[in-house]
Amino acid sequence: MARPSVVIILSLVLSVLLLVPYQVRSRSTSQTGSSLPLLEKEEVAAGNEEKARQRRRTECEGRWIHIRDLPPRFNTDLLQSCNAFPLYDDGNFCPYLANHGLGPRTHNRSRSWYRTDPHMLERFFHRRLLEYPCLTPDPALADAVFLPYYAALDALPFLYHPSLFNSSALHGRDLADFLRRDRPAIWGRHRGHDHFLVVARPAWDFSQDPDADPPLWGTSFLRLPDFLNVTVLSLEARPWPWQERAIPHPTTFHPATLAHLDAWLARARRARRTNLMLFAGGGGGGGPNIRGSIRAECENRTDICEVVDCSEGACSHDPIRFMRPMLRSSFCLQPPGDTPTRRSTFDGILAGCIPVFFEEIGARAQYGWHLPKERFEEFSVFIPKEEVVFNGVRIADVLAAMPPAEVRWMRKNVLEMAPRVMYRRHGSSAGLRARKDAVDLAIDGVLRRVRRRALEEGDPNSLIYDEDAGERW
Ligand SMILES: *[C@@H]1O[C@H](CO)[C@@H](O)[C@H](O)[C@H]1NC(C)=O
Ligand SMILES: *[C@@H]1O[C@H](CO)[C@@H](O)[C@H](O)[C@H]1NC(C)=O
Ligand SMILES: *[C@@H]1O[C@H](CO)[C@@H](O)[C@H](O)[C@H]1NC(C)=O
Ligand SMILES: *[C@@H]1O[C@H](CO)[C@@H](O)[C@H](O)[C@H]1NC(C)=O
Repeated sequence: MARPSVVIILSLVLSVLLLVPYQVRSRSTSQTGSSLPLLEKEEVAAGNEEKARQRRRTECEGRWIHIRDLPPRFNTDLLQSCNAFPLYDDGNFCPYLANHGLGPRTHNRSRSWYRTDPHMLERFFHRRLLEYPCLTPDPALADAVFLPYYAALDALPFLYHPSLFNSSALHGRDLADFLRRDRPAIWGRHRGHDHFLVVARPAWDFSQDPDADPPLWGTSFLRLPDFLNVTVLSLEARPWPWQERAIPHPTTFHPATLAHLDAWLARARRARRTNLMLFAGGGGGGGPNIRGSIRAECENRTDICEVVDCSEGACSHDPIRFMRPMLRSSFCLQPPGDTPTRRSTFDGILAGCIPVFFEEIGARAQYGWHLPKERFEEFSVFIPKEEVVFNGVRIADVLAAMPPAEVRWMRKNVLEMAPRVMYRRHGSSAGLRARKDAVDLAIDGVLRRVRRRALEEGDPNSLIYDEDAGERW
Protein backbone atom coordinates (compact mmCIF):
# COMPACT_ATOMS: atom_id res chain seq x y z
CA MET A 1 0.00 0.00 0.00
CA ALA A 2 2.23 2.78 -1.23
CA ARG A 3 -0.25 5.62 -1.26
CA PRO A 4 -1.76 5.35 2.20
CA SER A 5 1.66 5.20 3.83
CA VAL A 6 2.68 8.32 1.92
CA VAL A 7 -0.44 9.95 3.29
CA ILE A 8 0.47 8.85 6.81
CA ILE A 9 3.96 10.29 6.51
CA LEU A 10 2.64 13.49 4.98
CA SER A 11 0.12 14.00 7.72
CA LEU A 12 2.82 13.33 10.33
CA VAL A 13 5.13 15.86 8.71
CA LEU A 14 2.26 18.29 8.49
CA SER A 15 1.31 17.97 12.14
CA VAL A 16 4.95 18.50 13.12
CA LEU A 17 5.19 21.56 10.90
CA LEU A 18 2.03 22.96 12.41
CA LEU A 19 3.33 22.52 15.92
CA VAL A 20 6.76 24.09 15.41
CA PRO A 21 5.78 27.77 15.14
CA TYR A 22 3.74 27.53 18.29
CA GLN A 23 6.62 26.07 20.28
CA VAL A 24 9.12 28.54 18.90
CA ARG A 25 6.89 31.43 19.76
CA SER A 26 6.29 30.35 23.32
CA ARG A 27 9.98 29.79 23.88
CA SER A 28 11.11 33.06 22.40
CA THR A 29 8.76 35.07 24.58
CA SER A 30 10.45 33.63 27.64
CA GLN A 31 13.81 34.56 26.12
CA THR A 32 12.77 38.16 25.54
CA GLY A 33 12.62 37.94 21.80
CA SER A 34 16.05 36.51 21.00
CA SER A 35 15.82 34.20 18.00
CA LEU A 36 16.50 30.54 18.61
CA PRO A 37 19.60 28.86 17.25
CA LEU A 38 18.91 26.42 14.44
CA LEU A 39 19.94 23.40 16.47
CA GLU A 40 17.40 24.12 19.16
CA LYS A 41 14.68 24.45 16.58
CA GLU A 42 15.53 20.99 15.31
CA GLU A 43 15.41 19.63 18.82
CA VAL A 44 12.03 21.22 19.31
CA ALA A 45 10.85 19.59 16.11
CA ALA A 46 12.25 16.20 17.12
CA GLY A 47 10.52 16.37 20.50
CA ASN A 48 7.29 17.27 18.85
CA GLU A 49 7.58 14.46 16.37
CA GLU A 50 7.48 11.98 19.22
CA LYS A 51 4.62 13.91 20.78
CA ALA A 52 2.74 14.01 17.49
CA ARG A 53 3.21 10.29 17.07
CA GLN A 54 1.89 9.68 20.55
CA ARG A 55 -1.05 11.99 20.03
CA ARG A 56 -1.86 10.20 16.83
CA ARG A 57 -1.70 6.84 18.58
CA THR A 58 -4.19 8.14 21.12
CA GLU A 59 -6.47 9.80 18.57
CA CYS A 60 -6.44 6.79 16.30
CA GLU A 61 -7.09 4.24 19.01
CA GLY A 62 -9.96 2.07 17.78
CA ARG A 63 -10.11 4.04 14.52
CA TRP A 64 -7.43 2.51 12.32
CA ILE A 65 -8.50 1.77 8.78
CA HIS A 66 -6.71 -0.34 6.22
CA ILE A 67 -7.48 0.29 2.55
CA ARG A 68 -7.52 -3.02 0.78
CA ASP A 69 -5.22 -3.14 -2.24
CA LEU A 70 -7.53 -4.15 -5.10
CA PRO A 71 -6.52 -4.72 -8.72
CA PRO A 72 -7.51 -1.77 -10.94
CA ARG A 73 -10.27 -3.79 -12.61
CA PHE A 74 -12.29 -3.23 -9.43
CA ASN A 75 -11.91 0.55 -9.45
CA THR A 76 -9.85 2.82 -11.69
CA ASP A 77 -10.20 0.66 -14.82
CA LEU A 78 -13.98 1.04 -14.56
CA LEU A 79 -13.68 4.78 -15.05
CA GLN A 80 -12.46 4.15 -18.57
CA SER A 81 -15.85 2.92 -19.70
CA CYS A 82 -17.38 6.30 -18.87
CA ASN A 83 -18.85 6.64 -22.35
CA ALA A 84 -19.91 3.02 -22.79
CA PHE A 85 -23.23 2.96 -20.91
CA PRO A 86 -26.31 5.14 -21.14
CA LEU A 87 -26.29 6.52 -17.62
CA TYR A 88 -27.59 9.75 -19.18
CA ASP A 89 -29.28 10.66 -22.40
CA ASP A 90 -25.94 11.41 -23.98
CA GLY A 91 -24.60 8.17 -22.52
CA ASN A 92 -21.51 9.84 -21.17
CA PHE A 93 -20.44 10.47 -17.61
CA CYS A 94 -16.81 11.22 -18.40
CA PRO A 95 -17.05 14.94 -17.47
CA TYR A 96 -18.23 14.04 -13.96
CA LEU A 97 -15.07 12.13 -13.18
CA ALA A 98 -13.18 15.42 -12.86
CA ASN A 99 -11.88 16.47 -9.44
CA HIS A 100 -11.80 12.91 -8.11
CA GLY A 101 -15.49 12.44 -8.78
CA LEU A 102 -16.79 15.86 -7.69
CA GLY A 103 -17.22 16.77 -11.34
CA PRO A 104 -16.25 20.03 -13.04
CA ARG A 105 -16.72 23.30 -11.19
CA THR A 106 -19.96 25.03 -12.10
CA HIS A 107 -17.99 28.03 -13.40
CA ASN A 108 -14.33 28.78 -13.79
CA ARG A 109 -14.36 31.11 -10.83
CA SER A 110 -16.56 29.08 -8.55
CA ARG A 111 -14.68 27.72 -5.55
CA SER A 112 -17.15 25.45 -3.79
CA TRP A 113 -19.77 24.53 -6.41
CA TYR A 114 -19.42 21.58 -8.75
CA ARG A 115 -21.53 19.72 -11.29
CA THR A 116 -21.46 16.64 -9.08
CA ASP A 117 -22.99 13.42 -10.21
CA PRO A 118 -24.04 11.22 -7.28
CA HIS A 119 -23.01 8.08 -9.18
CA MET A 120 -19.38 9.17 -8.76
CA LEU A 121 -19.48 9.00 -4.97
CA GLU A 122 -17.50 5.74 -4.94
CA ARG A 123 -14.62 7.51 -6.61
CA PHE A 124 -14.79 10.52 -4.31
CA PHE A 125 -15.20 8.49 -1.12
CA HIS A 126 -12.09 6.53 -2.06
CA ARG A 127 -10.19 9.80 -2.55
CA ARG A 128 -11.31 11.05 0.85
CA LEU A 129 -10.30 7.79 2.53
CA LEU A 130 -6.76 8.30 1.21
CA GLU A 131 -6.48 11.40 3.39
CA TYR A 132 -8.05 9.78 6.45
CA PRO A 133 -5.63 10.48 9.32
CA CYS A 134 -5.64 6.98 10.84
CA LEU A 135 -4.70 4.74 7.91
CA THR A 136 -2.57 1.71 8.52
CA PRO A 137 -0.75 -0.35 5.89
CA ASP A 138 -1.03 -3.37 8.19
CA PRO A 139 -4.45 -5.04 7.99
CA ALA A 140 -3.78 -6.89 11.24
CA LEU A 141 -3.70 -3.55 13.08
CA ALA A 142 -6.84 -2.19 11.43
CA ASP A 143 -10.17 -1.75 13.17
CA ALA A 144 -11.90 -1.65 9.79
CA VAL A 145 -10.96 -2.52 6.21
CA PHE A 146 -12.14 -0.35 3.33
CA LEU A 147 -12.77 -2.01 -0.03
CA PRO A 148 -12.17 0.60 -2.75
CA TYR A 149 -14.56 -1.16 -5.12
CA TYR A 150 -16.60 1.02 -7.51
CA ALA A 151 -19.61 -1.24 -7.23
CA ALA A 152 -22.17 0.90 -9.06
CA LEU A 153 -19.83 1.43 -12.01
CA ASP A 154 -19.06 -2.27 -12.13
CA ALA A 155 -22.81 -2.91 -12.23
CA LEU A 156 -23.40 -0.83 -15.37
CA PRO A 157 -22.95 -3.69 -17.88
CA PHE A 158 -25.46 -5.81 -15.93
CA LEU A 159 -27.94 -2.95 -15.71
CA TYR A 160 -27.68 -1.64 -19.25
CA HIS A 161 -26.29 -4.33 -21.52
CA PRO A 162 -29.27 -6.39 -22.77
CA SER A 163 -27.20 -9.51 -23.32
CA LEU A 164 -26.19 -9.43 -19.64
CA PHE A 165 -29.62 -8.86 -18.06
CA ASN A 166 -29.92 -12.54 -17.27
CA SER A 167 -26.45 -12.62 -15.73
CA SER A 168 -26.95 -9.95 -13.11
CA ALA A 169 -26.47 -12.55 -10.36
CA LEU A 170 -22.81 -12.49 -11.38
CA HIS A 171 -22.22 -8.93 -10.19
CA GLY A 172 -19.63 -9.02 -7.42
CA ARG A 173 -18.56 -12.65 -7.83
CA ASP A 174 -15.19 -11.63 -9.19
CA LEU A 175 -14.53 -9.52 -6.08
CA ALA A 176 -15.74 -12.30 -3.79
CA ASP A 177 -13.35 -14.74 -5.47
CA PHE A 178 -10.52 -12.26 -5.19
CA LEU A 179 -11.07 -11.69 -1.46
CA ARG A 180 -11.18 -15.41 -0.83
CA ARG A 181 -8.00 -16.09 -2.80
CA ASP A 182 -5.76 -13.06 -2.26
CA ARG A 183 -4.29 -12.83 1.26
CA PRO A 184 -7.28 -14.71 2.72
CA ALA A 185 -6.18 -13.89 6.26
CA ILE A 186 -7.42 -10.30 5.84
CA TRP A 187 -10.97 -11.44 5.26
CA GLY A 188 -10.62 -14.37 7.61
CA ARG A 189 -9.80 -12.30 10.69
CA HIS A 190 -13.44 -11.31 11.11
CA ARG A 191 -15.08 -13.13 8.18
CA GLY A 192 -15.78 -9.79 6.53
CA HIS A 193 -17.52 -8.19 9.50
CA ASP A 194 -14.86 -5.47 9.65
CA HIS A 195 -15.03 -4.69 5.90
CA PHE A 196 -16.94 -1.82 4.35
CA LEU A 197 -17.55 -0.34 0.90
CA VAL A 198 -19.65 2.30 -0.82
CA VAL A 199 -22.30 1.84 -3.50
CA ALA A 200 -23.36 5.06 -5.18
CA ARG A 201 -26.92 3.91 -5.80
CA PRO A 202 -29.95 2.91 -3.77
CA ALA A 203 -29.59 -0.58 -2.32
CA TRP A 204 -32.66 -1.61 -4.37
CA ASP A 205 -30.54 -1.65 -7.47
CA PHE A 206 -28.43 -4.46 -6.01
CA SER A 207 -30.95 -6.56 -4.17
CA GLN A 208 -32.57 -8.60 -6.90
CA ASP A 209 -33.41 -12.15 -5.95
CA PRO A 210 -30.75 -14.18 -7.78
CA ASP A 211 -33.37 -16.82 -8.63
CA ALA A 212 -35.97 -14.40 -10.02
CA ASP A 213 -37.34 -15.63 -13.33
CA PRO A 214 -37.78 -13.60 -15.39
CA PRO A 215 -35.06 -11.43 -13.93
CA LEU A 216 -36.10 -8.05 -12.51
CA TRP A 217 -34.28 -4.73 -12.49
CA GLY A 218 -30.95 -4.67 -10.70
CA THR A 219 -28.15 -7.02 -9.73
CA SER A 220 -27.91 -9.44 -6.80
CA PHE A 221 -24.71 -8.00 -5.33
CA LEU A 222 -26.23 -7.42 -1.90
CA ARG A 223 -27.77 -10.89 -1.89
CA LEU A 224 -24.48 -12.72 -2.43
CA PRO A 225 -23.71 -14.66 0.77
CA ASP A 226 -20.12 -13.46 0.42
CA PHE A 227 -21.06 -9.85 1.15
CA LEU A 228 -23.72 -10.28 3.83
CA ASN A 229 -21.17 -9.49 6.56
CA VAL A 230 -19.82 -6.36 4.88
CA THR A 231 -21.13 -2.93 5.87
CA VAL A 232 -22.32 -1.30 2.67
CA LEU A 233 -22.80 2.46 2.55
CA SER A 234 -25.48 3.23 -0.02
CA LEU A 235 -27.46 6.29 -1.07
CA GLU A 236 -30.63 4.62 0.15
CA ALA A 237 -31.19 1.59 2.36
CA ARG A 238 -33.93 -1.00 2.17
CA PRO A 239 -36.60 -0.48 4.81
CA TRP A 240 -35.81 -3.62 6.76
CA PRO A 241 -32.43 -3.86 8.49
CA TRP A 242 -29.90 -5.45 6.23
CA GLN A 243 -26.17 -5.01 5.65
CA GLU A 244 -26.38 -1.53 4.14
CA ARG A 245 -26.58 1.84 5.83
CA ALA A 246 -27.72 4.98 4.06
CA ILE A 247 -25.42 7.96 3.66
CA PRO A 248 -26.47 11.34 2.22
CA HIS A 249 -26.75 11.78 -1.52
CA PRO A 250 -23.88 14.08 -2.47
CA THR A 251 -24.91 17.64 -3.29
CA THR A 252 -23.00 20.03 -5.51
CA PHE A 253 -21.49 22.11 -2.67
CA HIS A 254 -17.98 21.04 -1.66
CA PRO A 255 -16.19 23.84 0.19
CA ALA A 256 -12.49 23.48 1.03
CA THR A 257 -12.25 25.98 3.87
CA LEU A 258 -14.26 26.89 6.94
CA ALA A 259 -14.54 30.44 5.58
CA HIS A 260 -16.28 29.18 2.44
CA LEU A 261 -18.65 27.01 4.43
CA ASP A 262 -19.49 29.77 6.89
CA ALA A 263 -19.97 32.35 4.13
CA TRP A 264 -22.51 30.09 2.46
CA LEU A 265 -24.34 29.29 5.69
CA ALA A 266 -24.49 33.01 6.50
CA ARG A 267 -25.98 33.65 3.08
CA ALA A 268 -28.59 30.95 3.61
CA ARG A 269 -29.37 32.36 7.05
CA ARG A 270 -29.85 35.89 5.70
CA ALA A 271 -31.77 34.90 2.56
CA ARG A 272 -35.13 36.65 2.11
CA ARG A 273 -37.67 33.87 1.89
CA THR A 274 -40.54 35.40 0.01
CA ASN A 275 -41.93 32.08 -1.18
CA LEU A 276 -43.67 29.66 1.19
CA MET A 277 -42.93 26.36 -0.48
CA LEU A 278 -40.97 24.86 -3.33
CA PHE A 279 -41.05 21.63 -5.25
CA ALA A 280 -38.03 20.92 -7.43
CA GLY A 281 -38.55 17.72 -9.35
CA GLY A 282 -40.48 15.92 -12.02
CA GLY A 283 -43.07 13.18 -12.17
CA GLY A 284 -46.60 13.33 -10.84
CA GLY A 285 -48.37 11.78 -13.81
CA GLY A 286 -50.51 8.63 -13.75
CA GLY A 287 -53.01 7.86 -10.99
CA PRO A 288 -53.36 9.65 -7.65
CA ASN A 289 -49.93 10.19 -6.12
CA ILE A 290 -48.21 12.71 -3.90
CA ARG A 291 -46.26 14.41 -6.70
CA GLY A 292 -49.47 14.84 -8.66
CA SER A 293 -51.19 16.37 -5.61
CA ILE A 294 -48.28 18.75 -5.07
CA ARG A 295 -48.39 19.87 -8.69
CA ALA A 296 -52.14 20.44 -8.56
CA GLU A 297 -51.85 22.44 -5.37
CA CYS A 298 -49.00 24.54 -6.72
CA GLU A 299 -50.80 25.29 -9.98
CA ASN A 300 -53.63 26.74 -7.87
CA ARG A 301 -51.36 28.74 -5.61
CA THR A 302 -48.58 30.20 -7.72
CA ASP A 303 -48.45 33.07 -5.21
CA ILE A 304 -46.99 30.85 -2.49
CA CYS A 305 -45.72 27.75 -4.27
CA GLU A 306 -42.90 27.55 -6.79
CA VAL A 307 -42.20 24.54 -8.98
CA VAL A 308 -38.81 23.99 -10.58
CA ASP A 309 -39.34 21.51 -13.37
CA CYS A 310 -36.56 18.96 -13.21
CA SER A 311 -38.08 16.46 -15.66
CA GLU A 312 -35.69 14.56 -17.91
CA GLY A 313 -32.76 15.19 -15.57
CA ALA A 314 -32.85 18.95 -16.23
CA CYS A 315 -31.50 19.71 -12.75
CA SER A 316 -29.03 16.82 -12.41
CA HIS A 317 -25.88 18.79 -13.10
CA ASP A 318 -27.09 22.34 -12.85
CA PRO A 319 -27.37 23.50 -9.23
CA ILE A 320 -28.13 27.12 -10.19
CA ARG A 321 -31.55 26.01 -11.39
CA PHE A 322 -32.70 24.92 -7.95
CA MET A 323 -30.38 26.49 -5.37
CA ARG A 324 -31.64 30.05 -5.93
CA PRO A 325 -35.31 29.03 -5.64
CA MET A 326 -34.42 27.05 -2.50
CA LEU A 327 -32.82 30.12 -0.96
CA ARG A 328 -35.99 32.15 -1.43
CA SER A 329 -38.36 29.45 -0.09
CA SER A 330 -39.16 28.60 3.52
CA PHE A 331 -40.12 24.97 2.90
CA CYS A 332 -38.90 22.43 0.37
CA LEU A 333 -41.29 19.59 -0.46
CA GLN A 334 -39.50 16.24 -0.65
CA PRO A 335 -41.99 13.68 -1.97
CA PRO A 336 -40.90 10.16 -2.92
CA GLY A 337 -40.32 9.42 -6.61
CA ASP A 338 -39.08 6.21 -8.20
CA THR A 339 -37.47 5.53 -4.83
CA PRO A 340 -38.29 7.07 -1.43
CA THR A 341 -35.18 9.26 -1.00
CA ARG A 342 -33.95 12.20 -3.06
CA ARG A 343 -30.81 14.22 -3.43
CA SER A 344 -32.97 17.33 -3.28
CA THR A 345 -33.45 16.76 0.46
CA PHE A 346 -29.79 17.52 0.98
CA ASP A 347 -29.67 20.41 -1.49
CA GLY A 348 -32.54 21.95 0.44
CA ILE A 349 -30.92 21.43 3.84
CA LEU A 350 -27.81 23.25 2.58
CA ALA A 351 -30.03 26.11 1.44
CA GLY A 352 -31.71 26.36 4.84
CA CYS A 353 -35.00 25.33 3.23
CA ILE A 354 -36.98 23.31 5.79
CA PRO A 355 -37.71 19.84 4.36
CA VAL A 356 -41.27 18.56 4.26
CA PHE A 357 -41.40 14.76 4.19
CA PHE A 358 -44.36 12.59 3.26
CA GLU A 359 -42.98 9.18 4.27
CA GLU A 360 -40.81 8.04 7.18
CA ILE A 361 -38.67 6.12 4.76
CA GLY A 362 -37.87 9.31 2.85
CA ALA A 363 -35.20 10.31 5.38
CA ARG A 364 -35.99 9.63 9.04
CA ALA A 365 -35.72 5.87 8.69
CA GLN A 366 -32.59 6.23 6.57
CA TYR A 367 -29.96 8.70 7.63
CA GLY A 368 -29.65 8.16 11.40
CA TRP A 369 -25.90 8.58 11.38
CA HIS A 370 -26.16 12.02 9.80
CA LEU A 371 -29.61 13.32 10.71
CA PRO A 372 -30.43 12.15 14.25
CA LYS A 373 -33.82 10.46 14.25
CA GLU A 374 -34.91 12.03 17.51
CA ARG A 375 -34.32 15.54 16.17
CA PHE A 376 -36.44 15.36 13.02
CA GLU A 377 -39.28 17.40 14.54
CA GLU A 378 -36.79 20.19 15.17
CA PHE A 379 -35.79 20.69 11.55
CA SER A 380 -38.43 19.09 9.34
CA VAL A 381 -42.18 18.82 8.81
CA PHE A 382 -43.95 15.51 8.31
CA ILE A 383 -47.27 15.25 6.46
CA PRO A 384 -48.34 11.65 5.66
CA LYS A 385 -48.84 11.36 1.91
CA GLU A 386 -52.20 9.61 2.29
CA GLU A 387 -53.55 12.68 4.08
CA VAL A 388 -52.67 14.82 1.09
CA VAL A 389 -53.59 12.44 -1.71
CA PHE A 390 -56.82 10.98 -0.29
CA ASN A 391 -57.97 13.13 2.64
CA GLY A 392 -57.84 16.59 1.12
CA VAL A 393 -55.17 18.01 3.42
CA ARG A 394 -53.57 21.05 1.76
CA ILE A 395 -49.83 21.27 2.30
CA ALA A 396 -49.91 25.06 2.03
CA ASP A 397 -52.50 25.30 4.81
CA VAL A 398 -50.38 23.20 7.16
CA LEU A 399 -47.24 25.21 6.48
CA ALA A 400 -48.85 28.65 6.47
CA ALA A 401 -50.36 27.90 9.89
CA MET A 402 -46.95 27.49 11.51
CA PRO A 403 -45.94 30.42 13.76
CA PRO A 404 -43.10 32.49 12.23
CA ALA A 405 -40.96 32.07 15.35
CA GLU A 406 -41.16 28.31 15.01
CA VAL A 407 -40.25 28.50 11.34
CA ARG A 408 -37.19 30.63 12.20
CA TRP A 409 -36.18 28.14 14.91
CA MET A 410 -36.50 25.23 12.50
CA ARG A 411 -34.46 27.05 9.89
CA LYS A 412 -31.67 27.60 12.42
CA ASN A 413 -31.78 23.85 13.16
CA VAL A 414 -31.72 22.94 9.47
CA LEU A 415 -28.58 25.00 8.97
CA GLU A 416 -27.01 23.27 11.97
CA MET A 417 -27.52 19.98 10.15
CA ALA A 418 -26.07 21.28 6.87
CA PRO A 419 -22.36 20.65 7.63
CA ARG A 420 -23.20 17.06 8.61
CA VAL A 421 -24.70 16.14 5.24
CA MET A 422 -22.22 18.06 3.09
CA TYR A 423 -19.22 16.38 1.45
CA ARG A 424 -16.33 18.78 1.88
CA ARG A 425 -13.68 18.80 -0.83
CA HIS A 426 -10.63 16.56 -0.59
CA GLY A 427 -7.59 18.47 0.64
CA SER A 428 -9.65 20.86 2.76
CA SER A 429 -8.16 23.22 5.33
CA ALA A 430 -7.46 22.03 8.88
CA GLY A 431 -10.20 24.31 10.16
CA LEU A 432 -12.82 22.64 8.00
CA ARG A 433 -11.45 19.17 8.68
CA ALA A 434 -12.16 19.77 12.36
CA ARG A 435 -15.90 19.74 11.49
CA LYS A 436 -17.39 16.35 10.80
CA ASP A 437 -18.86 16.09 7.32
CA ALA A 438 -20.81 13.29 5.65
CA VAL A 439 -17.71 11.14 5.11
CA ASP A 440 -16.44 11.58 8.68
CA LEU A 441 -19.83 10.66 10.13
CA ALA A 442 -20.10 7.64 7.84
CA ILE A 443 -16.69 6.42 9.02
CA ASP A 444 -17.67 6.99 12.67
CA GLY A 445 -20.79 4.95 12.03
CA VAL A 446 -18.89 2.12 10.37
CA LEU A 447 -16.41 1.94 13.25
CA ARG A 448 -19.21 1.86 15.82
CA ARG A 449 -20.97 -0.84 13.87
CA VAL A 450 -17.85 -2.97 13.47
CA ARG A 451 -17.12 -2.63 17.19
CA ARG A 452 -20.65 -3.68 18.09
CA ARG A 453 -20.49 -6.62 15.74
CA ALA A 454 -17.22 -7.72 17.27
CA LEU A 455 -18.99 -7.80 20.64
CA GLU A 456 -21.90 -9.71 19.22
CA GLU A 457 -19.90 -12.29 17.32
CA GLY A 458 -21.30 -15.72 17.90
CA ASP A 459 -24.92 -14.73 17.44
CA PRO A 460 -25.38 -14.80 13.67
CA ASN A 461 -28.86 -13.38 13.92
CA SER A 462 -27.85 -10.18 15.64
CA LEU A 463 -24.99 -9.81 13.17
CA ILE A 464 -27.33 -9.09 10.34
CA TYR A 465 -30.24 -7.62 12.19
CA ASP A 466 -28.36 -5.17 14.34
CA GLU A 467 -30.32 -2.04 15.07
CA ASP A 468 -27.84 0.76 15.37
CA ALA A 469 -29.97 3.57 14.06
CA GLY A 470 -30.38 6.73 16.05
CA GLU A 471 -26.84 6.72 17.41
CA ARG A 472 -25.94 9.42 19.86
CA TRP A 473 -23.79 12.10 18.31
C1 LIG B 1 -13.10 28.60 -18.42
O1 LIG B 1 -11.88 27.89 -18.55
C2 LIG B 1 -11.79 27.15 -19.76
C3 LIG B 1 -10.51 26.33 -19.72
O2 LIG B 1 -9.55 26.93 -18.94
C4 LIG B 1 -11.83 28.12 -20.95
O3 LIG B 1 -11.77 27.39 -22.16
C5 LIG B 1 -13.13 28.90 -20.89
O4 LIG B 1 -13.15 29.87 -21.92
C6 LIG B 1 -13.28 29.59 -19.54
N1 LIG B 1 -14.60 30.19 -19.47
C7 LIG B 1 -14.81 31.42 -19.00
C8 LIG B 1 -16.24 31.89 -19.00
O5 LIG B 1 -13.92 32.13 -18.59
C1 LIG C 1 -33.53 -13.89 -20.26
O1 LIG C 1 -34.39 -14.83 -19.64
C2 LIG C 1 -35.75 -14.74 -20.10
C3 LIG C 1 -36.60 -15.77 -19.36
O2 LIG C 1 -36.21 -15.89 -18.03
C4 LIG C 1 -35.82 -15.00 -21.60
O3 LIG C 1 -37.14 -14.84 -22.05
C5 LIG C 1 -34.88 -14.01 -22.32
O4 LIG C 1 -34.82 -14.32 -23.69
C6 LIG C 1 -33.47 -14.08 -21.75
N1 LIG C 1 -32.67 -13.03 -22.37
C7 LIG C 1 -31.45 -13.27 -22.86
C8 LIG C 1 -30.75 -12.09 -23.47
O5 LIG C 1 -30.93 -14.34 -22.82
C1 LIG D 1 -20.33 -14.17 7.84
O1 LIG D 1 -20.35 -14.28 9.24
C2 LIG D 1 -20.86 -15.52 9.73
C3 LIG D 1 -20.91 -15.42 11.24
O2 LIG D 1 -19.79 -14.81 11.76
C4 LIG D 1 -19.98 -16.66 9.25
O3 LIG D 1 -20.51 -17.86 9.70
C5 LIG D 1 -19.92 -16.62 7.73
O4 LIG D 1 -19.04 -17.64 7.25
C6 LIG D 1 -19.44 -15.27 7.25
N1 LIG D 1 -19.49 -15.21 5.79
C7 LIG D 1 -18.41 -15.10 5.03
C8 LIG D 1 -18.64 -15.06 3.56
O5 LIG D 1 -17.29 -15.02 5.48
C1 LIG E 1 -57.89 24.60 -6.81
O1 LIG E 1 -58.78 25.69 -6.69
C2 LIG E 1 -60.13 25.35 -6.95
C3 LIG E 1 -60.97 26.60 -6.88
O2 LIG E 1 -60.67 27.37 -5.76
C4 LIG E 1 -60.58 24.32 -5.93
O3 LIG E 1 -61.91 23.92 -6.21
C5 LIG E 1 -59.67 23.10 -6.00
O4 LIG E 1 -60.00 22.18 -5.00
C6 LIG E 1 -58.22 23.52 -5.82
N1 LIG E 1 -57.37 22.37 -5.98
C7 LIG E 1 -56.34 22.12 -5.18
C8 LIG E 1 -55.55 20.90 -5.46
O5 LIG E 1 -56.04 22.84 -4.24
